[in-house]
Amino acid sequence: MLPRLAAAAAGLALLAILVLSPVLGPAGARAMGPLPDCRYDDILTTPRGYGDWSITLVDTILRVPRGYVPPDLVSTKQAGIEGGGKVRAVMIDDLRAMTEAAALADAGIAVQSAYRSYEAQKSVFDSWVAALGYRRALEVSARPGHSEHQLGLALDVRSASGGLPFTGTFGTSPAGKWMKANAWKYGFVMSYPRRSMDVTCYDFEPWHFRYVGRDVAAAVRASGLTLREYLWANYTTTIVPPAPPKPTRAPAKTAAPTATPKPSPTTTPPPTPPPPPPPTAAPAPSPTATPVPPSAEPTPGPTATAPPGPSGDVAGVASVVAAGAVGVMGILALGAWVLLRRGRHG
Ligand code: DAL
Ligand code: ZN
Repeated sequence: MLPRLAAAAAGLALLAILVLSPVLGPAGARAMGPLPDCRYDDILTTPRGYGDWSITLVDTILRVPRGYVPPDLVSTKQAGIEGGGKVRAVMIDDLRAMTEAAALADAGIAVQSAYRSYEAQKSVFDSWVAALGYRRALEVSARPGHSEHQLGLALDVRSASGGLPFTGTFGTSPAGKWMKANAWKYGFVMSYPRRSMDVTCYDFEPWHFRYVGRDVAAAVRASGLTLREYLWANYTTTIVPPAPPKPTRAPAKTAAPTATPKPSPTTTPPPTPPPPPPPTAAPAPSPTATPVPPSAEPTPGPTATAPPGPSGDVAGVASVVAAGAVGVMGILALGAWVLLRRGRHG
């Protein structure tokens, strides 16, 4: 009897650990749930420390705080690449290597846009809204707080001087083809590949590359997943609540159009985005510790672009609850084991 009881308790504890392990621990291959459908929200992403640069996910739901400014921004010129703007220093060596390799392959690259502050991203997004309308802008531009450009890790790449322009034909230019085939070797991932809008939530952007470092880039490529899917499945610990149900309406007596026709992505050529913002002074990097981005933010002003929706970061609470449950299971198993030993020796 006692051995059976002990075995049952131990089995229960093991089961609890297996079931709850997705919400425990800071790293490792686990997802908080299925990839959220494309929608718009303003939930703080986790992890988002400046030291978590390679695994921080931002998308149309998850964001970084308004005051998120990487502490180690440096000029892209340090990598010997044409163009301008700033990126995180962690990228420079690989960017230099990639720039040199692309030039050797007659596929010279240059920077069209690099780091964008929250405010700069707001200007970019607003200009797309003015050009295309709000709904279409959401498909080609991130709302402020949601852009990989604010991470200081995204580059909009164009062909080097004399090459083909940034938009339109970049994907089929020598530089675009070379980047698609080789960028991963240098730690860069095309964030929004062709025919992936259902999971990336953005139009195809053959010019937009996110630096994640060589190891993560190789793993993303091997996985066959987009970056959003990969980071969500392996590193993101934010709990994203399901979308609130859409209000149901009583059917109208007379037939009326219910949907606004959506502009076709193939017939509207994207206008050239505004030039990169002027360089922004960055705080000096701390020599002693990895700075942590601010978590408190000013209240959004009346022009905030975010639609209403649930917000918050409840991963920490879930972890505490889960850890408590596992603790109880452990105590049960230990008690059963003691009883078992007593049964044997008593
Ligand atoms: N165009 C991408 C989605 C951005 O604005 O970050
Ligand atoms: Zn971009």
